[in-house]
Amino acid sequence: MFSQLHNSITSPSWWQLINWIADPIGFQHKYSQKYGDIFTMRLSGLGSYVIIGNPQAIQEIFSQDSKFDVGRANRLAEPLIGQNSLMLMDGDRHRRERKLLMPSFHGERLQAYAKQICLITENLTSQWQIGESFVARSAMQKISLEVILQIVFGLSEGKRYQQIKPLLTAWLDMTDSPLRSSILFLQFLQKDWGAWTPWGKMKRRQRHMHELLQAEIEDKRIKADEKLGDVLSLMMAVRDEDGQAMSNEELTDELLTILFAGHETTATTLAWAFYQIHQYPDVLEKLQQELDSLGENPNPMEIAQLPYLTAVCQETLRMYPVLPVIFPRITKSSIKIAGYQFDSETTLMPSIYLVHYREDLYPNAQQFKPERFLERQYSPCEYLPFGGGSRRCLGYALAQLEMKLVLATILSKYQLALTEDKPIKLQRRGFTLAPTGGVRMVMTGKR
Ligand code: HEM
Repeated sequence: MFSQLHNSITSPSWWQLINWIADPIGFQHKYSQKYGDIFTMRLSGLGSYVIIGNPQAIQEIFSQDSKFDVGRANRLAEPLIGQNSLMLMDGDRHRRERKLLMPSFHGERLQAYAKQICLITENLTSQWQIGESFVARSAMQKISLEVILQIVFGLSEGKRYQQIKPLLTAWLDMTDSPLRSSILFLQFLQKDWGAWTPWGKMKRRQRHMHELLQAEIEDKRIKADEKLGDVLSLMMAVRDEDGQAMSNEELTDELLTILFAGHETTATTLAWAFYQIHQYPDVLEKLQQELDSLGENPNPMEIAQLPYLTAVCQETLRMYPVLPVIFPRITKSSIKIAGYQFDSETTLMPSIYLVHYREDLYPNAQQFKPERFLERQYSPCEYLPFGGGSRRCLGYALAQLEMKLVLATILSKYQLALTEDKPIKLQRRGFTLAPTGGVRMVMTGKR
């Protein structure tokens, strides 16, 4: 049967790698203009990736999950999160682990976390002073880290808790620019030549973090109480079919995965939301009116249902995907997708960015327009900030709830403004994208 050929970028693979690290959005924009919504890039030392911005093709990928390996395609993350991470698993092991972790981040559990999220936000912002400026991304990162530490670890005090916070932040800040992120992509830089070299520093921080997490696990083993309700206690209580509990190494890698995946991502999206809301006075006014309509001390789950607030969060995630592409999918055998034939061992990479900026789906895609989400429903292959199929983000429900509650708590109490009016660009930060400079704001008054 007839199958189409897709295009490959012809420039040298080292040049493509540099550009992919430096500016993954500009890269995709440029080549999609030239080659359309399916094309191959070759990254020196890492291999070839077929970038896909075609919703029909993405729908076919999501609906045939078992035909792809994802864990082994994520090996770039292994030096950070360890080999026992959910992100690096495939097949039955992945299915089992997800089943085990999923309930902790969904359904009834979320209701229990909602109050905690509002309290954490109130506490951390209560120190803000009128006239004081702050970097929104850093302020949001403090909140989201606290949320993860309390919910996942059940930690809110103690020496270890005080050590984990700055250590994790310093570790993540090691890849806070495109240049510094290159260490994650260039394997020849991943050599431990001593404490003063970047990789040496990275490894030492990782070891220190492992020690802290292992000590936390040991402490919890002594207390061993599933009723504590935090994710770590729940993970420690589960047994597999053979009655085996998760080992300390397995627990540590999963904790690190959730720490890595679960707090910077939400903080970055919140910073973008503050940026957009404060660029458009009518958006801010509508939001405040909607929040005020709930009266004093609303129930957090009512806040989470507000349509305009939900649309603002959806539109922020559309315009500023934290990951430029979702996890790569490696074909296990030859497969036809959207009329294209792909050999076995081809790596397909659906692009959140390319889909979210399609003019046929999102007219005036460069414009922040929350209303588009009130006017129409998008399918999982037309709107995919959290990926899809069996690898869909584990924390998507928690992330969305957290975004709404943090925005609602802050916007109901404070008046804020941006300190600069020049446009803020996306910049690579490790595997993610973040606002350059982090969005500077100032508190101008209380409500
Ligand atoms: C705004 C915030 C977030 C965004 C935009 C985001 C986005 C994503 C994306 C795009 C993926 C890849 C999905 C795929 O390839 O199909 C992913 C996976 C994942 N995310 Fe998130 N995420 C966010 C927050 C969180 C939170 C709060 C947690 C943890 C509580 C979390 C944990 C994970 C995990 C564990 C995976 C791997 C899932 C697997 O391999 O099965 N994420 N996320």
